Amino acid sequence: MMTAGEDVRRVRGARRLRGTIRVPGDKSISHRALLFNALALGTARVRGFLDGADCRTTLAALRAMGVRIEETEGMLTVHGAGIYGLTEPADILDCGNSGTTTRLLLGILAGQPFFTGLTGDGSLRRRPMARVTDPLRQMGAWIDGREGGNLLPLGVRGGNLHGIAYALPVASAQVKSSLLLAALFADSPTTLTGRTDSRDHTERMLRAMGADLVASGGGLMLTPGAPLAARDVEVPGDISSAAFWLVAGAAHPDAELTIEHVGVNPTRTGMLDMLTLMGAEIDVRNEREISGEPVADLTVRSSRLRGAEIGGSLIPRGIDELVVLAVAAAMAEGRTVVRDAAELRVKESDRVATVVEGLRRFGARAEAADDGFVIEGPNVLLAEAQESHDDHRLAMAWAVAALIAHDREETAIHGASAADVSYPTFWQTVAEIAEE
Ligand code: S3P
Repeated sequence: MMTAGEDVRRVRGARRLRGTIRVPGDKSISHRALLFNALALGTARVRGFLDGADCRTTLAALRAMGVRIEETEGMLTVHGAGIYGLTEPADILDCGNSGTTTRLLLGILAGQPFFTGLTGDGSLRRRPMARVTDPLRQMGAWIDGREGGNLLPLGVRGGNLHGIAYALPVASAQVKSSLLLAALFADSPTTLTGRTDSRDHTERMLRAMGADLVASGGGLMLTPGAPLAARDVEVPGDISSAAFWLVAGAAHPDAELTIEHVGVNPTRTGMLDMLTLMGAEIDVRNEREISGEPVADLTVRSSRLRGAEIGGSLIPRGIDELVVLAVAAAMAEGRTVVRDAAELRVKESDRVATVVEGLRRFGARAEAADDGFVIEGPNVLLAEAQESHDDHRLAMAWAVAALIAHDREETAIHGASAADVSYPTFWQTVAEIAEE
């Protein structure tokens, strides 16, 4: 069904999909569990940490600033350094492919009275940073870099921050979190208004650690000064990783898949709503709360999918899942329109362009728009060589399309190791659930 070559994975259309799956830990929560506990007082144990390339860059960056983090089987122990306990790193911090590492670290570094240089891989060096560096400069940090501080490499010398009132122009949890982290170091409160409607893991975790963070005037207000206490975290499975199996299960004609222990924070469940709107049969069972985050088991079965209009508030609640949603749309009866999603253009790749190009290679009818795409279905998907464009979610979405391809021929996915960024065991699970 699948052979490994030089960063090429080959996936053949499956006759049946069956299985019970555990997806790796949530990427957003894994980053935050390390970053926030590093700034706290005390010791925290983190279980279920996503051992993928992105979260490892956060771990390495914190160690480079003197934070002691121990690794044992299945657990990390973070020894909190306190908000003023970080030390100047001896070298430039390499954030790899990780926008979350870069933007959240920038918020912390804005409060540090030392110099830090930051860089990343080719994809990350193309992504816009002015969305955080502009407001962080308004707070008083010195930041410079390419394009006047918009592109990595960036240099930061922080300290002496003042609180600001800032209206978030984009629904980005990375921007919101970066400013909340910087706000911890300011001499007065910071209020955030505007697009605060992105994932709220930062708010939940900072509050649980004791930060003075309240809802205020339709936005958020953080008052600095409250000490942060280390908190143990059990990281739930990542719904963004579960999304690949939800689409595979719903779109394949003979499938039943259960994904256990998935985070279902309402700011992250846009994909469940979008797929349900498209007619997918998904059961959400065993809802419970773990480390302040809702968790459930999800079961998906072969479904008759239909096109849907997707935009507005669904977009920030499912931004990362739109890549694989496009594969579901290609299999659905009728037209799917995704709009209000211009953010797709500044992700790990320009996902409007890369998704449309790849779907067309499979034989699907897809058109790009400024802020999304339009897909006409249903289509007969035919195996065809694909490219990940160094974007983890593309590599995995093409594997899903390959599993449901009608001709059951082999699809070669080039640059397949990109999946390691968020889902190192992805290919193993493909092999486990696909029956020939
Ligand atoms: C993330 C926020 C989102 C998301 C990314 C993780 C986070 O990015 O796409 O995968 O952990 O805060 P934006 O904040 O740019 O929307």
